[in-house]
Amino acid sequence: MTTYLDKATENHSGIKFSLAPMEGVVDATMRHILTRVANVDLCVTEFLRVTTQLYPPKVFFKNCPELLSGSHTQSGVPVVLQLLGGQPTPMADNAARAVELGAIGIDLNFGCPAKTVNNSDGGAALLQYTDRLYNIVSAVRGAVPEHIPVTAKMRLGFNDRSQMHENASAIQSGGAEKLTVHGRTKKDGYKPPADWEAIKEIADGLRIPVVPNGDISSVAAFEACHAINGASEYMLGRGLLANPGLIRELRSDSGEFSWGELLPFILEFQYAEMTIGLRKHQGHRLKQWLAYLKTHYAEAATFFEQIKRLKDPELLEAALLEEIGRYPA
Ligand SMILES: Cc1cc2nc3c(=O)[nH]c(=O)nc-3n(C[C@H](O)[C@H](O)[C@H](O)COP(=O)(O)O)c2cc1C
Repeated sequence: MTTYLDKATENHSGIKFSLAPMEGVVDATMRHILTRVANVDLCVTEFLRVTTQLYPPKVFFKNCPELLSGSHTQSGVPVVLQLLGGQPTPMADNAARAVELGAIGIDLNFGCPAKTVNNSDGGAALLQYTDRLYNIVSAVRGAVPEHIPVTAKMRLGFNDRSQMHENASAIQSGGAEKLTVHGRTKKDGYKPPADWEAIKEIADGLRIPVVPNGDISSVAAFEACHAINGASEYMLGRGLLANPGLIRELRSDSGEFSWGELLPFILEFQYAEMTIGLRKHQGHRLKQWLAYLKTHYAEAATFFEQIKRLKDPELLEAALLEEIGRYPA
């Protein structure tokens, strides 16, 4: 049976680019906008933290509203649901339920460094216990139908990378079909640079595909990472939020977006935010995205300074409309 993994390959003869899961940043609204604008081939949801409970359906739909539309964004890009947790049975039960509700793939998070996550047992903390990685992957693999890919995402290690090969092998032996590797340990946090050589070393020891991730934020960075890894898929996070034209540039389809070309998408994002949650929070995500954009666009930095104290969502909308007037596409 064809899975979303094969579909993405059919759609693009060349290299695939997935959008990194980013809790609190890349939610369904951001996935909707970025898959419209940024030529992404695959998305992974923010992690859904599993402790002991089997979640009711509404929890899955909140994490991944795309379940209601065949697990694809409106632009037809597949979305895989990510689980994070340390106990095999609840992870397996929740994975099975996610699939019953329409998940087309399950990704397992073995990379999250957040303290709250590690205290409640999951994410990068598990990289200290190779056997637990195996137990979780194999329990999830056994709980979901064969045609549903189970994949994983890991860092190089917790405090150091001494277990990186055995961890990756355990994830493969447990039945994962693909492994994304963020080229840092938990201890490294987000300190640059990501180690793309170490990712290649891991890939050389596995038969499943490895997706390099970390600091692929420019054409030059991609070329350097690709020269080392020669992978068929790469995962991009912060770099794509800062420069949504990055994949277009990498595919040599066209150059980066001008600020004027991006603004209508940013306005659309703000309109979507204005339909969600409490009014007093309806500008947070816009400012959060601008904080990424301003690392790439000088105009975004200027605009951010103008709007950073505005709280009223309608004032933010008006400021965006004015900015569109200043920078026609
Ligand atoms: C704010 C934030 C939230 C993140 N949330 C997740 C998550 O939910 N699941 C996950 O596997 N990784 C998560 N990550 C890690 C990213 O997916 C990615 O591995 C990391 O940002 C490195 O890639 P980049 O340099 O392209 O951003 C998060 C990273 C950031 C900065």
